[in-house]
Amino acid sequence: MVRILRREQFSAETFLWEVDAPDVAQAAQPGHFVMLRLDDAGERIPLTVADFDRERGTVTVVVQALGKTTRQMRDDYDEGDEFADFAGPLGLPQHIENVGHVVLVGGGLGIAPIFPQLRAFKQAGCQVTCIVGFRNAERIFWTDKLAQFSDELILCTDDGSAGRQGFVDAALRDVLEAGTANLVVAIGPMPMMHACAEASRPFGVRTMVSLNTVMVDGTGMCGSCRVTVGGEVKFACVDGPDFDGHAVDFRELHARQKRFQRQEQQANDDHAH
Ligand code: FES
Repeated sequence: MVRILRREQFSAETFLWEVDAPDVAQAAQPGHFVMLRLDDAGERIPLTVADFDRERGTVTVVVQALGKTTRQMRDDYDEGDEFADFAGPLGLPQHIENVGHVVLVGGGLGIAPIFPQLRAFKQAGCQVTCIVGFRNAERIFWTDKLAQFSDELILCTDDGSAGRQGFVDAALRDVLEAGTANLVVAIGPMPMMHACAEASRPFGVRTMVSLNTVMVDGTGMCGSCRVTVGGEVKFACVDGPDFDGHAVDFRELHARQKRFQRQEQQANDDHAH
């Protein structure tokens, strides 16, 4: 069993778990994800590593209560509680080196997995610009944590209740206009990553996205996380989750992500009643 050492609620749906997982913490790198299962009969859900502390032996994940399992996590599990398993780290880590000026863009829940990448790029000697976007001021979390490792932090909200009003891709375009960026990393909802990839394409700046596809086994066997990248079939769980955003077939991906909507809605309804 795996114990939840710390829990922090950011908003009605968004919360953090710091989990006692020394082996995962030891091996975790920015860009990795884990597969979590609450009990033996539970579904396995992929969560990107939001932080790790090798000394404490802990791994942090930030979760949004949207589906059946994530709502159970929010409603039924407290600090000190235990759950069935936390397998990982999985996937390929982000390639970190001093590439010059890196722009990290996080949208919504994607802001959490931006953090370990941002810290690693900063520690590798890069100049780091961080752009974060939230729906409104109430949803803001971790901007102080991100600011510690950022040379520049640009906060955006959809409704203008804090920072700059508008979406992160508009802020990204403004940063790219300066012509100094060498790499963009965008993590967040699929439409946001797509918009960032389109924003950077005319500038020819390499743009990595982290594909939060539907995953079932997380080991390359089931095919549910299939994506087309540069005309080739890839599996996000073993070949990613980070890919070149300019080569990802986002149109196909949007269509594939909708496949399980009906079943997910049914599971949600069952949990609610
Ligand atoms: Fe099954 Fe990737 S989750 S192949």
